[in-house]
Amino acid sequence: MNVLDGKGLATQIKAEIALKVEAMVAQGKRRPHLAAVLVGDDPASHVYVRNKVRSCEKSGFESTLVRLPNTVTQQELMQKIHELNADDTIDGFIVQLPLPKHIDDEAVTLAIDYRKDVDGFHPMNFGRMALGLSCYVPATPLGIITMLERYGVETSGKSCAVIGRSNIVGTPISILLSRKALVGNATVTLVHSRSKGAAEILKQSDIIIAAIGIPHYLTADLVKEGAVVIDVGINRVEDPAAKRGYRLVGDVDYGAVAPKCSYITPVPGGVGPMTVTALLMNTLKAATHEIYK
Ligand code: GUN
Repeated sequence: MNVLDGKGLATQIKAEIALKVEAMVAQGKRRPHLAAVLVGDDPASHVYVRNKVRSCEKSGFESTLVRLPNTVTQQELMQKIHELNADDTIDGFIVQLPLPKHIDDEAVTLAIDYRKDVDGFHPMNFGRMALGLSCYVPATPLGIITMLERYGVETSGKSCAVIGRSNIVGTPISILLSRKALVGNATVTLVHSRSKGAAEILKQSDIIIAAIGIPHYLTADLVKEGAVVIDVGINRVEDPAAKRGYRLVGDVDYGAVAPKCSYITPVPGGVGPMTVTALLMNTLKAATHEIYK
């Protein structure tokens, strides 16, 4: 069994990005600049955004954190997005989700200039991804693809089950793994709450991507010997013995599943750090106008 060390790989890729940034600066160019909009005080969102800002610093990027209160109006948030769209010193920006209930997320996503949409959530980027055109690929799927590529995990011709059909993970990773590409060419089944025979599908899969948000959903009886298991879950479960009163567990029952796998990602230290790194990869592409001129 091989552990896919997302934390170590993320550190390595961030160092590679930092070298590219210093080369840009040496040529007299501006540092890549990522802005993150954080609305309200959801504790998990705070942690994610803090990690994104810290990672920017480690790779030599400029970063700007825009904090807005829970009570922000749709109009005020839209105004901020228009400002970020128009700001030539900002290469890319994200609006951290989830947003408060009174905010229309769809309108927010559509308002972001797709050329600065380093989250890859705008329909222009999502549509281009589905068509196999160059685009900003959403960070979590890009992190997973990058990890599979760097570790040389074969996907071509393999059967792959994706559990969960969210817009930010399940749906895009299912599209990417079935594409004709270096990491792709898999036969993908998207398993969701209405799927019949999910257990049988999972038991036959060479690769399983668990992105359902249920702690320890994927148990050992659902995984075949030699499978590749990618755990996207970051679930907080109460733990009075832990310093913060909770611990983070994935969607996979790691202890029981790992011995059966050829490759598996841990939680924490697997997909999470790769997601943040993928956001930096996209921001670097935005700064160098690699995707849109
Ligand atoms: N919330 C959970 N994941 C993400 C992400 O990748 N981007 C944004 N903007 N919000 C999120």
